[in-house]
Amino acid sequence: MQITLRTPEKADYEAIASWVTDEKACSRWAGPSVPFPFAATDLPELLAVEEGSSYCLSNSDNRCVGFGQFWAGKQGAVHIGRIIISPEERGKGTGRLLCEKLMAKARQSAGASTVTLRVYRDNTAAHSLYSSLGFSVIKSESTDDLLFMSAMANEVAREITSKL
Ligand SMILES: CC(C)(COP(=O)(O)OP(=O)(O)OC[C@H]1O[C@@H](n2cnc3c(N)ncnc32)[C@H](O)[C@@H]1OP(=O)(O)O)[C@@H](O)C(=O)NCCC(=O)NCCS
Repeated sequence: MQITLRTPEKADYEAIASWVTDEKACSRWAGPSVPFPFAATDLPELLAVEEGSSYCLSNSDNRCVGFGQFWAGKQGAVHIGRIIISPEERGKGTGRLLCEKLMAKARQSAGASTVTLRVYRDNTAAHSLYSSLGFSVIKSESTDDLLFMSAMANEVAREITSKL
């Protein structure tokens, strides 16, 4: 499948909204700044982050199958978030592909040496995905609910390049 990152369009936000079906899923995906329920048309504004970029992962039919963002993190790091894959595409390696492409893009645009993210402790799928991509938990920045994770952008990039 030819799969690329591109700027999200109106129809993509409608698709993304349809993947988020309850309050818990919404909070796990987007954190407290996105209330549930929300209107798809409000998503670009609800997801807006200062100095941030949003991308959808588009398949060979130009259909959006995933979404993610990155923005400036602490101490020169780039922070990735709001990662989500269409429910019917989960478990096929698409989340890994999205993260790899997003991290490569983030590193390229931000020139950051460190990539960070936050994930709810009980989000096993996401936590496993990030660990397998080389992210480690930073205990001092984590809370009872949320893990703060970090990876060296160069190590991630090397890992990605070795698989190309
Ligand atoms: C988390 C999410 C993006 C993973 O996407 P995905 O396409 O299903 O993930 P992949 O198929 O690429 O799996 C990659 C790795 O993730 C982990 N993983 C994925 N689904 C898993 C599950 N149900 N249970 C445990 N680990 C899982 C595994 O380590 C897997 O590697 P493996 O295939 O070698 O075992 C997807 O489940 C999702 O959109 N969840 C809802 C939104 C969300 O929670 N986002 C995270 C915000 S921090």
